[in-house]
Amino acid sequence: MADDDILKRKITLPGLRRLFKLYHYIKPYRWEYGLGLIFLLGSSGASLIFPKLLGELVDYGNKSGLGAEINRIALILILVLIAQSVFSYFRIFLFVRVAEKTLADLRQSAFNHLIRLPMKFFQHRRVGELNSRISSDITLLQDALTTTLAEFIRQIIIIVGGISLMMVTSLKLTLFMLMILPVIMILAGIFGRYIRKLSKLAQAQVADSNTIVEETLQGIQSVKAFTNEFFEMARYRVKTMDIAQTGIRNGKLRGAFSSFIILGLFGAMVAVIWKGSTLLATGEIATGELFSFVIYTVFIGGTIGGMADVFARVQKFIGATEDLLEIFNEVPEPVEELKNLLPEQILHGGIRFEQLSFSYPTRSDFQVLNNIEVEIKPDSLVALVGPSGAGKSTMVALLLRLYEPTMGRILFDGTDNQVIPLSVLRSQMAIVPQDIFLFGGTIRENIAYGKTDASDTLIEEAAQKANAWEFISKFPEGLETLVGERGTQLSGGQRQRIAIARAVLKNPKILILDEATSSLDSESERLVQDALEKLMKGRTSIVIAHRLSTIRQADQILVLDHGRIVEQGTHEELLKDNGLYRNLSELQFAG
Ligand SMILES: Nc1ncnc2c1ncn2[C@@H]1O[C@H](COP(=O)(O)OP(=O)(O)O)[C@@H](O)[C@H]1O
Ligand SMILES: [Mg+2]
Repeated sequence: MADDDILKRKITLPGLRRLFKLYHYIKPYRWEYGLGLIFLLGSSGASLIFPKLLGELVDYGNKSGLGAEINRIALILILVLIAQSVFSYFRIFLFVRVAEKTLADLRQSAFNHLIRLPMKFFQHRRVGELNSRISSDITLLQDALTTTLAEFIRQIIIIVGGISLMMVTSLKLTLFMLMILPVIMILAGIFGRYIRKLSKLAQAQVADSNTIVEETLQGIQSVKAFTNEFFEMARYRVKTMDIAQTGIRNGKLRGAFSSFIILGLFGAMVAVIWKGSTLLATGEIATGELFSFVIYTVFIGGTIGGMADVFARVQKFIGATEDLLEIFNEVPEPVEELKNLLPEQILHGGIRFEQLSFSYPTRSDFQVLNNIEVEIKPDSLVALVGPSGAGKSTMVALLLRLYEPTMGRILFDGTDNQVIPLSVLRSQMAIVPQDIFLFGGTIRENIAYGKTDASDTLIEEAAQKANAWEFISKFPEGLETLVGERGTQLSGGQRQRIAIARAVLKNPKILILDEATSSLDSESERLVQDALEKLMKGRTSIVIAHRLSTIRQADQILVLDHGRIVEQGTHEELLKDNGLYRNLSELQFAG
């Protein structure tokens, strides 16, 4: 987000209405929160009568000889103190309890929602940005629910209650004080506004700089390999300088704000004492009343001073909530948890691409697939070949319904994929992708990702079928071997075989291999090839391959170029055709 956007952002009515959705999350705990509010009222009320009682104490002291009265009031003061401390304890305890439970619910909902959003949502979002939604934005809510809101309410009680109590004591002096106070309030409001805006800007800049750290560390190997440490340092330096500058600007304002408050506050105090003394001289008020009056003035002045800060936090909270709730406006994919498939939901493996065209949502002017027309028979082996960038991986993504075609459609056993429930469809396909992602954890967990409830025997069997058991069993810890954050301790071929084991375990009707043998040496390739051949029996397999030798026995070879199917047939047929396929295979044999 550009700096200007943040500064321009205002609290709007629809924004506030969206904010109200947050209440949905607090609702289950509303009684508890309400009780906390009562305690808050209690403790704020107690702090309000404090100056009043102190004033009375002074008055009795002034009249002299009323020792019993003095002791009585001192006792009341102590009781008020005890009440206040008890109220504070329960207020904080209850608010924190509600906040923690609400946040847990909200975190879960946000994550659950996020994970179900379609791929096109993730295409134009950065991981760091989304991460901060779930972590820092929610932490701001925590702050709001536990302290900010409470502080805000307490401040209002003190201002309204304090002024009322002062009026009862002396209307004249209160009116005099109120003539000075609004001036301070208005100026404080203006100050607060600027501070608020700058805080918001700083927040966005911090998020920006965090993104750099996150992405750099994620790709640390590339950073080092390209000796781009200094490039990244410079990038980060610029961002952190921005943050510092905003922070310093903010600091100047805060400093000015605080001197202004000191001046305003002490000025007001001097004025009130001056006016009060003249009233004291004419006998219109008592000494104790003036005493409590001065304390109230300090009290209220300080409260107003703190209001700008609380207001800034409220604003921040509203901004964070709006950002967070924005995610909830995105429509998720209709994924569902499947127990068992109904007989009519079981796929037989027939696939048909019908006049299918596709562009990625982020590049709608560039047609990646163009009028694809393909028929794939159940249990057949189909090979997709073609130069890189031809659109092979994209075809596979569409098959998994990670994206929707721009035109045309895909049918499974003659049924439009739009009418097959998404989870039913995906649960019967498995892919060994081009970029294998291993989760941080054990090898066992990574294989079991294909079927999270699989038994040990099944996992071992899958590893064996994938020719992965041979190397796994050589690790001292076997299946329990930890793979690094991105599986760095394993070679490309080993990772590939783990991914294949994962696919085997899922036992899909449709198996997709996206260049599954490309990063292997010839020995591992033979092992993987061997594994794949076992694996392909009894299912439809779609194999994308660079090495044409691996796909000779395919029932059908589709040659893709610039998003179009340019040739189609068996190995022998295509060699006779003297086209792109023959070209590619001759190049390879020459190599
Ligand atoms: N997520 C994406 N967003 C936008 N364009 C993409 C995306 N993925 C791939 N492309 C583009 O689509 C075209 C086909 O890519 P891809 O299907 O990965 O080719 P292949 O697998 O045949 O090498 C390329 O021009 C590529 O730049
Ligand atoms: Mg590809």
